[in-house]
Amino acid sequence: MTTPLSFTTTQNPAPMPEADRQAAFGNLGFGTLFSDHMAVIHWTVEKGWHDATVSARKPFELDPASSVLHYAQEIFEGMKAYRGKDGTITLFRPEENARRFNESARRMAMPEIPEADFINAVEALLAADAKWVPEADGASLYLRPFMFANEAFLGVRPSKEFIFCVIASPVGPYFKGGAKPVSIWATQSFTRAAIGGTGAAKCGGNYAASLQAQAEAAQNGCDQVVFLDAKEHNWIEELGGMNVFFVFEDGSISTPPLGTILPGITRKSLIQLAKDAGITVTERPYSFETWKADAASGKLKEAFACGTAAVVAGIGQVKYEGGSFTMGDGQTGPVTTKLRETLVGIQRGSIADPHGWIRSVSV
Ligand code: PLP
Ligand code: COI
Repeated sequence: MTTPLSFTTTQNPAPMPEADRQAAFGNLGFGTLFSDHMAVIHWTVEKGWHDATVSARKPFELDPASSVLHYAQEIFEGMKAYRGKDGTITLFRPEENARRFNESARRMAMPEIPEADFINAVEALLAADAKWVPEADGASLYLRPFMFANEAFLGVRPSKEFIFCVIASPVGPYFKGGAKPVSIWATQSFTRAAIGGTGAAKCGGNYAASLQAQAEAAQNGCDQVVFLDAKEHNWIEELGGMNVFFVFEDGSISTPPLGTILPGITRKSLIQLAKDAGITVTERPYSFETWKADAASGKLKEAFACGTAAVVAGIGQVKYEGGSFTMGDGQTGPVTTKLRETLVGIQRGSIADPHGWIRSVSV
């Protein structure tokens, strides 16, 4: 066991004025407003992880040969801090983010970071930026830990230098329509991940590769793209930035199995909460043709997308080249609503936390 790093905090000498922040809090979208500070840790082959700081958020200075700019050795996480009615700040299952970050690091030939350093970085940033955690219902402070290769070297091999950083962004709903059900475009032109590829890693390259498919979705009037598997173009995988669930008329639910998809922490939590509620949950392949047929016959009652940024969003309509279909009456269904309310209640402290998922942060 290595000793956890200690963070040196230097307060931002020019933080955003209180009145400006309060005004911005009145109209929160997703990912456009940033807090005053950032946490940074450096890694080199010689020294390992070192120089842990929290200081004013500012641009990085990168050598133009930095390997991240050429070969995309980069990974990230997404998590949220919540402010309870009593003012306390909490995190939801941060150790799961730390664990997944290291799984992504292994896949991308990057150094793992001790879980304690990952969580301490998040908490040190929260201590400096506590006032940036909004308290309105549906609002939270989105935290973005990430790591990138910054050795100036053009050969293709793992970098010998990395920067780990955490930034924070107060957010409201991910989708502009708020709680309205979302529409999904099933792309037949693009795939997201192949067996043996990087689908299960949270690396920036996966998202770069999803953007053209997401643009196709937008051109077809949809909020998000859903990807089918790369081999048979038949099995539903996940959305550009969310996992997907199906709710059937017999009350059971299913979600695609792990493998080429991102192992979502919201997905894992909802599987548990559904089981707690006595719902039968299976992780099994579900084909696009069956999705269409089950929606038409009424066997499928609801479908929803889930993830940290989007929380739980009902899927109203699915469009594809040559057609479209609707789930149930096109509105967010009762099972989706119940699971969403239970998850959000636990995250925001209004419902008891039976699995010990909530971590209080002392700031
Ligand atoms: N799938 C993808 C591709 C994602 O980007 C995300 C978001 O992080 C998810 C699924 C959901 O993961 P989580 O619930 O851990 O946020
Ligand atoms: C998240 O939910 O945290 C993500 O990373 C998804 C991203 C599309 C915002």
